[in-house]
Amino acid sequence: MKQADIGVYGLGTMGRALALNLAEHGFATAVANREHDWIAPFVEGASHLGENLLPAYDLETFVTRLAKPRVVLFMIPSGAPLDAMLAQVLPLLEPGDMVVDAGNADFNDTMRRTREVEARGLSYVGMGVSGGARGARHGPSMMVGGTPDSWVRLQPILTAIAARFEGDPCVDHLGPDGAGHFVKTVHNGIEYADMQMIAEIYGLLRDGGGWSAGDIAALFRDWSSGALASFLVDVTAIALEEPDPETGQPMVDMIQDKAGQKGTGRWTVIEALKLGQSASTIEGAVAARAWSANKSLRETAATTLPGSDLVGGLPGSQMLEQALLAGRILSHAQGFGILQAASDQHGWSLNLARVAEIWRAGCIIRSTLLNEIGAALNEDMPQGHLLLAPRMVEALEGSVPALRHVVASAVQTGLPVPSLAGALAWYDSVRQARSSANLIQAQRDVFGAHGFERIDRTGRFNGEWG
Ligand code: 6PG
Repeated sequence: MKQADIGVYGLGTMGRALALNLAEHGFATAVANREHDWIAPFVEGASHLGENLLPAYDLETFVTRLAKPRVVLFMIPSGAPLDAMLAQVLPLLEPGDMVVDAGNADFNDTMRRTREVEARGLSYVGMGVSGGARGARHGPSMMVGGTPDSWVRLQPILTAIAARFEGDPCVDHLGPDGAGHFVKTVHNGIEYADMQMIAEIYGLLRDGGGWSAGDIAALFRDWSSGALASFLVDVTAIALEEPDPETGQPMVDMIQDKAGQKGTGRWTVIEALKLGQSASTIEGAVAARAWSANKSLRETAATTLPGSDLVGGLPGSQMLEQALLAGRILSHAQGFGILQAASDQHGWSLNLARVAEIWRAGCIIRSTLLNEIGAALNEDMPQGHLLLAPRMVEALEGSVPALRHVVASAVQTGLPVPSLAGALAWYDSVRQARSSANLIQAQRDVFGAHGFERIDRTGRFNGEWG
């Protein structure tokens, strides 16, 4: 019987798509799933792939169908379900075999699992996979964390199935243990911020300007070939264009305004705070989703709390486009700042330019801006920060005035723009050579004698406070 090059366990939307992608590229792929009745219909539906899709109806058979040393890839929820699966599969594997977690995992769990699995002589790879079902099927962007040896084994397989940007495969080994999943988490944080800022602009047009979904769709269509060109702007135009087959109304107008989230945006914010980094654009997005889910409180507050008496007016479409561009640049600068801080903390030596490069195709946040960011990260950046890269400075010079104008008019009108406002607040904080933290230090010393540094001589001082 044919031995499989790789096994995919978990035949949900992503697992199925990845298995088909692997099999189509000539890799014999064993497939298994906890719900056994999913397996046969899946394999029968892909009969053109012949012996490249090898079904297994129990874990033991799944493992025996794999050529040694085995590669087992899990595409299942990465919390307790993955720990439960590892407990079952590890006794069936042998030293030299490899386990790959291709789900969205908390990188702290990946570090722990790496220690546990590698203590048994196996290798463990935490791999971020981006691009949704379509990406997994036809070319995802993949962020690999693990040992260099693991990468040597996986590289030919992953390179074959990855998305490509001008021929360059959007996959790479980024660092050890948790590095791949950390990078994927920050990718998702940027994804959250980008989606939120787009939704904020949509909200200004709808609620501040009275625009219809169709008119807003046309605007996003227009933007999708300019400076904002990106997958998420395309997705937005598609979402706004579609009518509801039942009512004929725009589909988006029929959708309840309560956003879901699975946790990766929140993880980004948590890790950013632990690392002493700002993630205001992402935090704005995570909180907005959380508040959106609290519909009944919002409905009560809408008729109870006063709004604004000021008139902000709706900025022109060019102004909105530039504001969104500035917000996007700033959210990416925050994301790459978080990546650099994590790399320093964990000794990962992350190649940030390479991260940007493997995000240029296949993943959800792919955009023309990322091409620019990839180039900027390869050039000299003052203070090693993307925000100060000459290309970014030039782009911000052209776009921040619009961000200022849009945020100001939203605030005056009383419409929420938490991520755009968070972006601007961060921008203005970063460019303030003398901040107001001297007062914070004074306050801390008044009530707690925490001490401070002086501007005129070195050392640690306490004040003689009244
Ligand atoms: C990707 C996406 C994906 C994520 C979804 C939903 O890169 O393909 O980030 O991994 O699961 O976007 O995430 P939320 O449910 O948290 O919005």
